[in-house]
Amino acid sequence: MNYPVWDVPILGSSLVIAIVAIMHVFISHFAVGGGFFLPLMERAALRRGRRDWLAVLRSHSKFFLVVTGVFGTVTGVGIWFAIGLGSSPATSTLIHYWVFGWGMEWCVFVVELATIAAYYYLWDRVSDATHVKLGWLYAVSSWLTLLIINGILTFMLTPTDAWVEAAGKPEATFLFWHAFFNPTYFPSLVIRTLICGSMAAVWAFVTVARLDSAQHGDLKRELAAWTRQWLLPAFILLPLAVVWYVLEVPGAQREILFRGVATAAQGQFTVATRMVMITMLASMATVVTAFLFTDRRNAPDFSLHGALAVALLAFIAFGTSEAAREMLRKPYVIGGYMYSNGVRVSDVEQYNQRGYLTSSFLAAGASPAERGELMFQGQCLSCHTLDGYRPVRRLLAARNREAIDNLLKVLHEHKPDSPYRAYMPPLVGTDEEIAALRDYLVGLNP
Ligand code: HEC
Repeated sequence: MNYPVWDVPILGSSLVIAIVAIMHVFISHFAVGGGFFLPLMERAALRRGRRDWLAVLRSHSKFFLVVTGVFGTVTGVGIWFAIGLGSSPATSTLIHYWVFGWGMEWCVFVVELATIAAYYYLWDRVSDATHVKLGWLYAVSSWLTLLIINGILTFMLTPTDAWVEAAGKPEATFLFWHAFFNPTYFPSLVIRTLICGSMAAVWAFVTVARLDSAQHGDLKRELAAWTRQWLLPAFILLPLAVVWYVLEVPGAQREILFRGVATAAQGQFTVATRMVMITMLASMATVVTAFLFTDRRNAPDFSLHGALAVALLAFIAFGTSEAAREMLRKPYVIGGYMYSNGVRVSDVEQYNQRGYLTSSFLAAGASPAERGELMFQGQCLSCHTLDGYRPVRRLLAARNREAIDNLLKVLHEHKPDSPYRAYMPPLVGTDEEIAALRDYLVGLNP
């Protein structure tokens, strides 16, 4: 516990990270998918000689620039703030290990932001061919940002045995590409690219829906029909890609999903399974609703409310699928290397022998009661709150001192058959520290 903790009441730091991250991925996948949408629609309009399509695309590119350039970048920086505060040890690892990756990412970002600005501001100021080329330059650079970040994100779930073995030693440097192209890299890239395509449609509907039907009824119908095709690749191929992804996830993690499926008949879903089911329902609902709203008869009446309803369904699908992916990674923040509370797997022994709080400057001169609270803050707060999200006070309400003692013992021993292993890290520390934690937890429900 080398860093102070960020205690967010009610929400907890983990939920803050999740909320910021989900807003960001919702926009960033649009930034990538929309990147291909712009030049492809521009090309289609030019081939058909449709200047009226181009006028709509021009207004869409302004909307696109504002949404991705402002909200996309602000939420992206927001993720760094949130993870830096809420998950400092993991952020430190990500920065130190992937510094070259982030360097590449930021170079590509600059190209991405510059080209989308140029694309919007140079409408009618350069030749059509040059303008389409600018669109392609934007599309490729924004897809490159996904290619790079995908390596780092998938690394966190499946960092590979070789990397975990070498972590902290100079050898790890030579495993950069090995860890980057880890087992979930390619299935995840396919999944995310498909989702990017469908997000291009979901957001383009907002522009199409805003067309005045009385004036542009036919145009609205044509554009709605052209746009909704973008939902189809994801609708058809996503299930296959997800199966591929799940097959690459390590067995123990995959088990969290399948245990939930196997026991679903008795109503005992795991949270991960529940999230996956909501994802599937919401994705289907997105596509069905979008097709209903935009079919030949309904398209002229397609309103902004309708477009926002489709976007909301997609947002639910998105949020729950990211939540399921996070659940798959529990109890780790970096698979097999670091637990969600920042404890490195390789440090567990040392913490148990020498003490967990010995490395905390906050613990200097702390009373036993304060030591108990520091144990809680350091090891539990990354996933729980006192009274809000996953509230420890309520989760412990039915337990007396002895039962809490037993629970902590099970958490500490972390035996292979412990029911908590699937989602909680081992509790580390000396007997004295664990007793202090117990007294603190007992005191929560006097
Ligand atoms: C990696 C995240 C994580 C960490 C760290 C963590 N937990 Fe949990 N804990 C969970 C999850 C997930 C659940 C299941 C939540 C639910 O059922 O709503 C859970 C459940 C619990 C429960 C209810 C279990 C039961 O059988 O009733 C208790 C009590 C609990 N945690 C206490 C703690 C304590 C104390 C710590 C710190 C020593 C801690 N947790 C650290 C993720 C975590």
